[in-house]
Amino acid sequence: MKPRSTLAQGLPRSGIREVLDLARQMDDVIVLVVGEPSFNTPAHIIDAAAKAAHGGTTKYTPNAGLPGIRAAVAERYSKKFGRTVTPGEVLVTAGAVNALAAIVAGIAEEGDEILIPDPGWPNYVSMIGLARTVPVRYPLHPENGYLPDVAEIESLITPRTKAIVINNPSNPTGAVFPEETVSALVDLARKHDLWLISDEVYEDLVFEGEHVPAARFDPDRVITVSGVSKSYAMTGWRIGWAITNPELVALSGKIQEALVSCPSAVSQAAAEAAVRGPQDAVEEMRLAYQRRRDLVREILEPVGLLPTIPQGAFYAMVDLRGAGMPSKELSLKLLEEEHVAAAPGSTFGDVAEGMVRISLATADDDLAEGCRRIVRFAERHGALPVAAVGAASA
Ligand SMILES: Cc1ncc(COP(=O)(O)O)c(C=O)c1O
Repeated sequence: MKPRSTLAQGLPRSGIREVLDLARQMDDVIVLVVGEPSFNTPAHIIDAAAKAAHGGTTKYTPNAGLPGIRAAVAERYSKKFGRTVTPGEVLVTAGAVNALAAIVAGIAEEGDEILIPDPGWPNYVSMIGLARTVPVRYPLHPENGYLPDVAEIESLITPRTKAIVINNPSNPTGAVFPEETVSALVDLARKHDLWLISDEVYEDLVFEGEHVPAARFDPDRVITVSGVSKSYAMTGWRIGWAITNPELVALSGKIQEALVSCPSAVSQAAAEAAVRGPQDAVEEMRLAYQRRRDLVREILEPVGLLPTIPQGAFYAMVDLRGAGMPSKELSLKLLEEEHVAAAPGSTFGDVAEGMVRISLATADDDLAEGCRRIVRFAERHGALPVAAVGAASA
């Protein structure tokens, strides 16, 4: 038998899955590891999908999506960007993950470098690797609120750099970039003639301040990626999109044709109902995540385990560096000793080594109990900042 692909074999396995698989074999585990909304898809969206399916929206669609959803997305972003976005600039995909993968494959040659955040969503590494391009991580420092340092990113740009990926609001840090940071990143991309791929899947989940879309500053250079998964609790429907020029929409649409032909027709109808319909559920979910963020903050901040307060998305990075253990060991010990499943920081890059990520997409009581167990764990392993020990045992 001829050997299997070294590329496929070399792709990293998500540390999140590993912890989850172990947690599933145990009883009484508080699962804070999964990055998906804890709500059901709003009923009016499910009704629209059922109606569409009964009405015959059950066939293949054009590669770039059905006209209805493309128009709905174009209208939504015309308001957000402050300019007219046409349906021809919208590529509808099987989740934002496919939008990102199809865009990378649409712009990059083998060996090109793509800058990605550290800590950042682990899938960037695998999708960039699959396109035989090279992920280069730029650090987001906790001392700087996990905001990008433009000069540091610039120092990593080489003649092979093709694009910078930014993620705002961020998974796993919850950072929300201020307007000046977003515009400085766009300026940097312009200065070096790079694409700026702006992953904005958490755009609706902001607790403080405002989400600033990067495309407001340069509609040609910025490729906006988002979708319905996080805003509308629709992870299983698999609909995302990229907004870019019609030429790249067509090119990346060809990549999508090779992989999935087109996104699911009935899911596209559901996503159209989500984007066009009432937005109350989005606000209700945002408020619930914010309440849980406050709950986590109340328990972890006084003992020094939450140096950076998440301002968006639904995650928090818990700083257990004081324990002096690699994050993978931390995650496994936390699971074994306290029955709390949290994602090892190292899954997101080197900067988060010694930390774990918890998800706010968990019921309030479980989340609070999980945090109390983390404090107990930190105290036992010497991970509480010294000045805060009194507060922890109080
Ligand atoms: C930062 C980030 N981008 C993209 C995605 C993918 O979302 P989708 O479900 O639309 O593929 C995720 C999902 O967890 C994410 O965290």
